[in-house]
Amino acid sequence: MDTNDARRSVISGVGSAVPSKVLTNHDLEGMVDTTDEWIITRTGIRERHIAENGETTVSLALEASQIALDDAGIAAKDLDFILLGTLTNDIGFPSSACLLQEELGASHTAGAMDFNAACSGFVYGVSIADALIRAGTARNVLVVGAETLSKIVDWTDRNTCVLFGDGAGAAIISADESGNGRGVIGTYMRSDGSNPEMLRRWGGGQRKPNGDGDAASFDFIHMDGQDVFKRAVTAMGDAAEYILEQTGYIGDDLDLLVPHQANMRIIQATAKRINLPMEKVYVNLERYGNTSAATIPICLDELKRDGRFNPGELVMLVAFGAGLTWGSVLLRA
Ligand code: UT7
Repeated sequence: MDTNDARRSVISGVGSAVPSKVLTNHDLEGMVDTTDEWIITRTGIRERHIAENGETTVSLALEASQIALDDAGIAAKDLDFILLGTLTNDIGFPSSACLLQEELGASHTAGAMDFNAACSGFVYGVSIADALIRAGTARNVLVVGAETLSKIVDWTDRNTCVLFGDGAGAAIISADESGNGRGVIGTYMRSDGSNPEMLRRWGGGQRKPNGDGDAASFDFIHMDGQDVFKRAVTAMGDAAEYILEQTGYIGDDLDLLVPHQANMRIIQATAKRINLPMEKVYVNLERYGNTSAATIPICLDELKRDGRFNPGELVMLVAFGAGLTWGSVLLRA
């Protein structure tokens, strides 16, 4: 394939899957010292979905991907590349993307790899897919964000266990030479590796074989909530502002903002930073909690099914996560 300046990358299909088991704030009241009122007020979350009965990151990714392929009207064999963003792999290696590829029936015909940009995974994935498509390396890229965070949450730690949930979202990013203005307009990715302790899990790696001396610090997510909160507010706002400046748009031009869903207060601060009314901001945090890389594609799938992700609309995706990582995508749906 050759490079082609007129080639844009469009989101041609979306899909999502969440486990059927729901854990409400009231359920959590019986597990840790918390209240429904605290969780709703401080985060906006009411319930989250939890994997069980053999549901894994790859099984959820498979379900979401099949829906996205159907939505795009293409077969798995039409995929040139599979990018899977996750923190919670089914096995150490090979990659979950390769396991997914085989389950989809796309072995040999597509390249596949995992990447870890934490909650920024989908924004990073779309950005990389866009680059592959513009370069002429691929025509159809499957970008998946899939997580089973419930497996790495300490269910005795009220600081973290109320926040996270499981799920998968997928999008097909396809080359489009129609010149109709649809597709990715701009992408922005940044990270800061200077403070990995702020939001991390030592387990799964070799640097801290004994964690900080106790099992909980090794096996599970640890987060300095307030520090992460402040960084998220700044970084999500910066990413939203930057992508508008770079592409010559203003907040008023946007039809829709689809932000990472970690905390309602962070979402509100991001919208305020670009003077966007909350009516233009999609929020489903109350039903899923923070599903990391799966969050934004789950939102897109819901929006499309609700008739709220329509061709021609100007849409911004913006995310922040462990790393720290953050980024944004501006696109015409
Ligand atoms: O997706 C990746 C990025 N992640 C994020 O963006 C998350 C960012 N952080 C946050 O969303 C918020 O910091 C949290 C929701 C995690 C915490 O909210 P906060 O308003 O920053 O609360 P805090 O950490 O300052 O805690 C306030 C109090 C503390 O009690 P004391 O020390 O004041 O007595 C906590 O121990 O709330 C307590 N607390 C809880 N109380 C009831 C913490 N968790 C809970 C809980 N239930 N689940």
